[in-house]
Amino acid sequence: MKDFSFYLITDTHYFEPSLGASGKAFENYMSREQYFMAESSDIVKGAFAQMAADKTIDTIIIPGDLSKNGEIESHKSFIKELNKLKASGKKIFVLTAGHDFNEKSRAFVNDEQIEVEGTPFGELYNLYYDFGFSQALSVDKRTLSYVAEVADGVRMLAINCDSEGRKKGTIDDEMYAWMQVQLDDAKKAGSSIFAICHYPVIPPVPVFDIIGDAKLDDWRRVASFLADNGVELVLTGHMHIQSINDYTSANGNKIYDICTACATGSPAKYRKISIKDSVLKVESIDISYAGGETNGLSSKEIFDNQFKKSIIARINGALSGGKGFAKFAKKIGKNIVNKITVGGFGRLFFVRVDKSLKKRNFMDFAGDIGLGIFAGDGKHTEGTPVYEAFSKVLRRLRFILKKVEPKLSKNGVQINLNEMLLNTIGNNKGYSDNNAEIKLGK
Ligand SMILES: [Fe+2]
Ligand SMILES: [Fe+2]
Repeated sequence: MKDFSFYLITDTHYFEPSLGASGKAFENYMSREQYFMAESSDIVKGAFAQMAADKTIDTIIIPGDLSKNGEIESHKSFIKELNKLKASGKKIFVLTAGHDFNEKSRAFVNDEQIEVEGTPFGELYNLYYDFGFSQALSVDKRTLSYVAEVADGVRMLAINCDSEGRKKGTIDDEMYAWMQVQLDDAKKAGSSIFAICHYPVIPPVPVFDIIGDAKLDDWRRVASFLADNGVELVLTGHMHIQSINDYTSANGNKIYDICTACATGSPAKYRKISIKDSVLKVESIDISYAGGETNGLSSKEIFDNQFKKSIIARINGALSGGKGFAKFAKKIGKNIVNKITVGGFGRLFFVRVDKSLKKRNFMDFAGDIGLGIFAGDGKHTEGTPVYEAFSKVLRRLRFILKKVEPKLSKNGVQINLNEMLLNTIGNNKGYSDNNAEIKLGK
């Protein structure tokens, strides 16, 4: 690939605060939300100001989920910020995604949740015309995918997998045909081409391969198609996770997927990415918390606390409700996991855990594991106490996993849950998810 450098920020989930984000209903909503809503505009403005100050990089790419939930006022305010960034000398290229249209757009006023005006898909083209479409060599108006020359001899294929009338996170045959024309055209022009897509093309962590919405549908086909057409790099978002992965097609062509976290929630990062002499260099930069009380906590602590709170609330939510025996069993499970220590949890499976973990509250521990997965660079690799404990529990559950695995294995791809889960908590890829230097090419 030809030399090129840019900033990548994604899943800004920008919310116009004057719509209302306070009161009891809001507090209740935020107890389960991973990222900030009332403060999102201030957080995004801060990150944009930081990027504007760097005069060495003139390109900014934002692959989707620009607004909180498609509120038209959020889009208008976000576009004002994009215009300021543009006035500071930046070229900006965005993709729209699922959270940008036809959503249940809501705000919170006087302890209540209220509905606010959303944005139809058909309006996105005009709204974001100056940030990709106007510079495009070709636009697929049906999906709002486009190709643009982002630097001399470097093109970007912006693949919109979230458009109206299609299942989100999918690429249909018409899109493949359109992409083929664009990729052939780039080749004829002698240009390098990379891609952006809202959904991860490669599952960010192995276990996301079996989670429907966590990556593109039929991702191996998409990854192979891109790699075989000379695309070595795709930049994604959606899963709010820091990860870098590679995939090699049957023809031996390799593609890297750099998936970046949500700008307004833990681990709150944006990326500085450069390609120089075929070396891909990725740096991750912290985003500061802004717009609310810090109570002496660091930005990292504030973002992490919110995310961890939401993980614990979601586990508890999954263990609530139901009917009859299921309700009873869930209630017991909920009581156990909220009170038990990690040592006690291990004992349920006849597993002894390392003494450094023994006395920890299980739910707090689970929250930290979740945080660690989304921050990238999973540190629980072979030989660490968490890996060993998890591995032993999985061994005890082997008879169940063996029954489940064939049901999860599709299209000739065998699923090994043990490997998948252990490689999700520990990064064994040979490069970092956050700060990496990778030699491109086969
Ligand atoms: Fe998102
Ligand atoms: Fe998304």
